[in-house]
Amino acid sequence: MFNFDFHNPTRIFFGKDRLDSIDQVVPADATVLITYGGGSAVKSGLIDKVKIVLGNRKVYEFGGIEPNPRYETLMKAVEIVRSENIDFLIAVGGGSVIDGTKFITLASSYKGDGRDLLKYGFTPITSEVVGTVVPIGTVLTLPATGSEMNSGAVISYEHGKFPVMSPLTFPKFSTLDPTITFTLPKIQVANGIIDTFVHTTEQYLTYPVDARLQDRMAEGILQTLIEIGETTVNEPENYDARANLVWCATLALNGIIATGVPVDWSVHMLGHELTALFGIDHGQTLAIVLPPMLEVRREQKRAKLLQYAERVWKIEDGSDEEKITLAIQKTREFFENLGVKTRFSEYGVEADQIPVVIEQLKAHGMTALSETQDLTLDISQQILERAL
Ligand code: NZQ
Ligand code: ZN
Repeated sequence: MFNFDFHNPTRIFFGKDRLDSIDQVVPADATVLITYGGGSAVKSGLIDKVKIVLGNRKVYEFGGIEPNPRYETLMKAVEIVRSENIDFLIAVGGGSVIDGTKFITLASSYKGDGRDLLKYGFTPITSEVVGTVVPIGTVLTLPATGSEMNSGAVISYEHGKFPVMSPLTFPKFSTLDPTITFTLPKIQVANGIIDTFVHTTEQYLTYPVDARLQDRMAEGILQTLIEIGETTVNEPENYDARANLVWCATLALNGIIATGVPVDWSVHMLGHELTALFGIDHGQTLAIVLPPMLEVRREQKRAKLLQYAERVWKIEDGSDEEKITLAIQKTREFFENLGVKTRFSEYGVEADQIPVVIEQLKAHGMTALSETQDLTLDISQQILERAL
């Protein structure tokens, strides 16, 4: 097992009717900005409920944060934070609203051009760069990204999606009420299951380092998703199935399963280019890329793929090769049974677009990906060709 530092300060309020907890953790004299997306949280009455809990605090609102939040939109909220002396931000939404709000707080404190913050990539942005930031809390409406309990964000600008990492952007608290997610369209639930699944495989399907507990935690998340996946898509108000999805999504990307193990993230890096170029939802891009990634990288990932086949999919018969092949096939079938298409061409993207994706990967420096940094542009091309 590798050495690691693990620190996660986010307080979680989980379960039904937990909004009242916000009153305990937002200072009574705070001036609050509530951020939200395209309107689902207004329509469901959630924004009004959050405002009621905030009582006499001075509250401003900023709506319209789009899926794959854009720099230009977020900078409009930065103006409000500065002009109204906001001292607490509450993000009500999915990954896009939460990520956007993380960026808003960093950019509000930063003295230079906000676009500078998109250049840090996976290098954490510290208080030396931005000074003190306004704290954030979240009310999660879509289980998928884990953004409610991590310090990362992904921000869209021009034709790119830029990771933004900062220890300053861990939410102070996140309210995880599975009933708030009941209004999600089926496709967003399926996207969320796939995002959670692939967050887990990115941190598990690498090479063994005898991290037995982390492996079993990852396998536990994958097995839980396989057990509840179809149920929670088809029975949106089945509380227990949805509660399991919500907690899996949070734990898959709050840092715990990454402790002491190698991590990959190539499926995400390819997926981000597909969203930026073709507007395909984040979860769907992962469903397109993961199966061919595992096929092309089966030599590098052999030991963990076999463990995945035997422990997650319970495949006992056949040679090692056959077990791995069947596990990859079952992974694809799992995604398709959730109602998500797994072929590039099913999203209207054809072979002639692959060079464009490769150019973008190159432009964004994605030329040495994976847990061993040996995934070159040529290999990305093979993966994308197999994804058609
Ligand atoms: O905008 P509204 O009207 O709220 O509608 C949203 C949006 O259209 C809707 N929605 C959310 N909650 C709802 C709801 N509709 C009805 N009822 C509800 N309860 O769902 C749509 C998608 O929302 P979005 O926030 O974009 O989805 P998701 O949570 O999947 O977030 C995706 C973003 O997160 C980034 C992705 O790249 C993408 O930009 N990621 C962030 C990560 C992180 N911070 O750690 C890691 C991930 O790998 C990912 O890259
Ligand atoms: Zn993801």
